[in-house]
Amino acid sequence: MNPILKQLVEERKCNSLDGKSLIDISATSISNVEGELIYKAVQEVKAQTSVETGLAYGTSAIWICEALQKTAQSKHIVIDPMQNAEGTPWKGLGINNLRLAGYESMIEFHEQYSHLALPQLEKSGIKVDFGFIDGFHTFDHTLIDFFYIDRILKVGGILVIDDCNWESIRKVCSFILTNRSYKVWDYVKSDFELTSSRKTLNSLHHFLKKKPSLKSYFQPDHAVYGELLDQISYGGCIAFRKESDDKRLWNHYQEF
Ligand SMILES: C[S@@+](CC[C@H](N)C(=O)[O-])C[C@H]1O[C@@H](n2cnc3c(N)ncnc32)[C@H](O)[C@@H]1O
Repeated sequence: MNPILKQLVEERKCNSLDGKSLIDISATSISNVEGELIYKAVQEVKAQTSVETGLAYGTSAIWICEALQKTAQSKHIVIDPMQNAEGTPWKGLGINNLRLAGYESMIEFHEQYSHLALPQLEKSGIKVDFGFIDGFHTFDHTLIDFFYIDRILKVGGILVIDDCNWESIRKVCSFILTNRSYKVWDYVKSDFELTSSRKTLNSLHHFLKKKPSLKSYFQPDHAVYGELLDQISYGGCIAFRKESDDKRLWNHYQEF
């Protein structure tokens, strides 16, 4: 394993910019099991090109670079407007970690909001094999990240979304699975205990499965997400496989 990734994984710390102290990365980094899921997904699609929103200390970026095929074309595109912003904890450490890990030459860094950078990527004509969404965690920003990454993701490619246990992001996952051609490829369970309402929903789903006519009495996303509860148990990090390009008609709408 790359020594910088090993340090991030084993100590959950990285070197400060001057190399004189260690910084705790755990508050804004993916967990080790999430890193392993990302690594496995990047390898599954034999990715040469990837894109990610949300760099922070670079933990997920280094997992991705570690797994990318190493060719002259290999490229990991990273989007984050706050890497060097005043008042944030990252202070250039994500890029510094990528440099220390030896991956700087594979990185195309856009120090920009993802809603501005992603349309430019689509315009450039680039296609990616793998995407990771871990930027601004509201429903609308996550949906916009999904919308644009989907437009540059190859069919068969994998998109991983972090923090799917957040209500805002769960709603995006529900949209993806009901309205778009994606299937869950793999997932990491959330660190959080299922809330009691979710446990009730889970049992309710088992009941509903036997009585489909009752489904219409419940919120659509509960019914849809209920079907996934067995599969992902309110997943923390979900990998979706893209099954086809968007072939919906202009007036398509499915409750989610
Ligand atoms: C949870 S952290 C990402 C952690 C990182 N993926 C990792 O595991 O190493 C969220 C990141 O999203 C970035 N961010 C916030 N708003 C953003 C936006 N509109 N577009 C892209 N990134 C954004 C933040 O600056 C922060 O670095």
